[in-house]
Amino acid sequence: MELLKELSEAAGVSGNEKAVREVVLRHIADHVDEHRVDALGNLIAVQKARPQASQPKRVMLAAHMDEVGLMIVYIEKNGMLRFEPVGGIDPRVLLAKRVRIGPDGVPGVIGMKSIHLQDPAERKKVPSADKLVIDIGASNQEQAGRLVKVGDYAVFDTAFAPMTDSTVMGKAFDDRAGCAVLVKVLQAGPYDCELHAVFTVQEEVGLRGARVAAYGIDPDVALVLEGTICDDAPKTRDETPVTRLGAGPAITIADRSVIADRALTNMLVQTAQAHGIPYQFKAPGLGGTDAGAIHQTRSGVAAAVVAVPARYIHAPVCVLNLNDYEHAVQLVIETLKQGAWS
Ligand code: CO
Repeated sequence: MELLKELSEAAGVSGNEKAVREVVLRHIADHVDEHRVDALGNLIAVQKARPQASQPKRVMLAAHMDEVGLMIVYIEKNGMLRFEPVGGIDPRVLLAKRVRIGPDGVPGVIGMKSIHLQDPAERKKVPSADKLVIDIGASNQEQAGRLVKVGDYAVFDTAFAPMTDSTVMGKAFDDRAGCAVLVKVLQAGPYDCELHAVFTVQEEVGLRGARVAAYGIDPDVALVLEGTICDDAPKTRDETPVTRLGAGPAITIADRSVIADRALTNMLVQTAQAHGIPYQFKAPGLGGTDAGAIHQTRSGVAAAVVAVPARYIHAPVCVLNLNDYEHAVQLVIETLKQGAWS
C-alpha cells in the first residue's frame, strides 16, 4: 500500500512524468539488469531471463506513468491563471478543486462563482474549462508570475487514504495502479522470458510513449497493465458495468484502441483459473490503452491488457480495491512464470 500511495501522490501530468519515474526507479533499480530513459522520457528496464531458460521470448510489459491534469496557458492581469486540460477531463469535476502547480507545488484552487451569485440558469450549466481560472491568491499578474510560469502543469491535490480494509482512495490510479503492479512483478522476477518493462509517458494524450518504446524494443508479445473504468454503482437501468470493484483484475477483450490477442487473453484466463485468481472481463468497446499503439508496431505485436478497476478515473480522487490490485500482481506473475509464450 505504501508503494501505491507514493505513486498516487507523485505529480506526473503527460509530458512531465519525472517525479513518477524517480519513484519507480527507486523501487526497481535493484531488481533489473539495466535501465534507461529514452528521448521522450519512457523508463525502460530490462530484466534478463533466468539462465536456464532456453530461447527466452522478449516480453514487453507497459504501464503509463502520466495522469490527466492541467497546463497553465496564461496569467491574467488580476493574477488568475488560465489553463487547458491535458488529457480527458470532465469539466464538471474541476470546479472548486485544490491543485498543485509547477515544480514547487504552488497551491491553488479552481475558482467558481459562489451559488449566491448565480442566477437560476447558471446553476444548471457547467462552465467549460476555458471559462475557469485557477486562483493562487496572487493579486496581480506580476505577483502570480513570480510563483507560476506559463507552461507549468497543475495536478489535483489529493492525499491517498485508506477507506475500508480492502479499499483506498487517491488520485491517478489510472495508471499508477498499473505502475505499482509492474514494479511488484519486476521485484518477483526473473522469469523464463526477457522482460522489457516500460513505464511509459504521454498515454493520456495519444499513446505516444508506448509507440516509440515498442518500436525500439521490438517485442514478441506485450502485456499492458492499466487502471481501468469501474462503474458498478447502482443504476436506474439494468446495464452491465464495464467492470466491478472487488471482482478481480479486468482482462480486455477489445476496446477502442485494440482487439486483444486471443491466445494471450486465453493464457491469462487459464492461468487465473489454474491458480484460483478471480478475474473479470472488461465490457468491450470502451476506453483505450497503450496496447493500441504497441500492437501496431513494426510487423505487429500480440498484445493483451490486464487492468485494476478504479472508480472515478480522470477525476481528482478515485477508489480501488486492494484485492483487485494484489490479484492483478499475482495474475501477471503466474502468467510470466508459466512462460508458454507462443
Ligand atoms: Co490509463
